[in-house]
Parts: sequence; C-alpha cells; structure tokens
Amino acid sequence: MFGKWLASIVILLAVVAAVASDMEARVRSQCLHCHGAEKLCVETTDVAWWERAVARMLWYDEGLLAPEEIPAMAAWLADPAHRQPWCPLRP
Ligand code: HEC
Repeated sequence: MFGKWLASIVILLAVVAAVASDMEARVRSQCLHCHGAEKLCVETTDVAWWERAVARMLWYDEGLLAPEEIPAMAAWLADPAHRQPWCPLRP
C-alpha cells in the first residue's frame, strides 16, 4: 500500500524530470542558432517577460514553435536554475 504510493511518486518525478529535460533539448535546438546562449542570460524571472520574448522569436521565425508551446517554454526559461547550463548563477 505504502509501496504503491511511493511508486507513483517515483513515476511522477520521472515524468516531471523527462518533461524538463525535453524542454532543455528544445531550447538547445530551437533557440541557439540565431544568437548565442548569452541572450538567455537575462536576470528576470518574470514569466510574462519571457512569454513576450519567446513570442517575439516566433515573429522572427514563425516555424520555431507552436504558439501553444510558448507558455510552457516561457515558464521553464523564467527559472534561472533551468538556464544554469548556459548562464552560471552569479554569487
Ligand atoms: C530567427 C532567429 C532567432 C531565433 C530562432 C531565436 N531568436 Fe532570440 N533573438 C533574435 C534576435 C534578432 C534578437 C535581438 C532582438 C530582440 O531582442 O528582439 C533576439 C533576442 C533574444 C532575447 C533577448 C531579449 C532582451 O530583451 O534582452 C532573448 C531572451 C531571446 N532572444 C530568447 C530566445 C529564445 C528563448 C529562443 C527559442 C525559442 C530564441 N530566442 C530563438 C533572434 C532569434
């Protein structure tokens, strides 16, 4: 009974991790060919700011993402920990 509960938590965490790393792969493949990763190293954690930025990128290249993907990518990018591979956190 407890084991089942634990198993569902483990599965849930695995799914969350898989979705998160997919997003990282997506950013790597979609966002780094016009400019370097340094463009992603903006200090703001404001999701609305990131939504506007990603929407603007779609404007430059409308095939970049489906518009419905914008909120998920923006929310992911707004977390500085996710951008750490490109933008080491400054002390
Ligand atoms: C078609 C080329 C192109 C692609 C692909 C692209 N960008 Fe950009 N990006 C630009 C240009 C041009 C600028 C500078 C002008 C601007 O900020 O709108 C820029 C600027 C930015 C900025 C800086 C905004 C600021 O105000 O400092 C961010 C953040 C950004 N891009 C994120 C992304 C993300 C996230 C992706 C992937 C979804 C992406 N870009 C894909 C062309 C592109």
